[in-house]
Amino acid sequence: MRLIVVDDYNKMSEKAAIMVASQIILKPNSILGLATGDTPLGMYKELIKMYNNKEIDFSNVKSFNLDEYYGLSKNNAQSYNYYMKENLFKHINIKEENINIPDGTAKDIEAECKNYEKRIQDQGGIDLQILGIGVNGHIGFNEPDITFEAETHLVNLDEKTIESNSRFFDSIEEVPTKAISMGIKTIMHSKRIILLACGESKAEAIFKTMKGKITPKTPASILQLHNDVTVIIDKEAASKL
Ligand code: PGA
Repeated sequence: MRLIVVDDYNKMSEKAAIMVASQIILKPNSILGLATGDTPLGMYKELIKMYNNKEIDFSNVKSFNLDEYYGLSKNNAQSYNYYMKENLFKHINIKEENINIPDGTAKDIEAECKNYEKRIQDQGGIDLQILGIGVNGHIGFNEPDITFEAETHLVNLDEKTIESNSRFFDSIEEVPTKAISMGIKTIMHSKRIILLACGESKAEAIFKTMKGKITPKTPASILQLHNDVTVIIDKEAASKL
């Protein structure tokens, strides 16, 4: 794992955006794996700036998001579909048909998961996957004790995740308890991975991910076995390394 420690959130966002931009410049039809949450917001802002400056072109880029809440429609303001539209897609020239996000309202969830996985494989896999990390070491919604072999599937959210994500909802009761998530196997098949983290609250998870035992108790620890992971974190998130 390549480690880059930066001063703050803005520096992390800039560095990550530069890596994504280089990927797109070198391969205009890149398949990007995208993440939601607070962590990548700054990176998306930087990418929008680069797009407006005509430094990058998303017209041939395809994207696959890591996850989506089960039961939330894409018009729900808490859905990741909505988040992606508001924070990135509506500001750039990615084509609607090139955007892939699991459908949390699909009638047949199992078929939706299988189909999502197949769509990724049909594209030849993800070129560059962006990851945040949960305070419990999750990546995507692969919560502690997940099986490393899993592909895209329906997951039960961990209590810590529900608590942490309740900040986006009016009350904790409104946080969905399930989600569709790419599995660890899906993520590990990505050609390159960038893991982002900021703040003291992520320090323990980062320590266990990079220096701990490879164990399903810290899902991100499996990344130690991937041959092209760049970890970009601020000083606080690096404080336990
Ligand atoms: P955050 O979430 O970016 O909002 O901290 C990261 C995650 O839970 O994967």
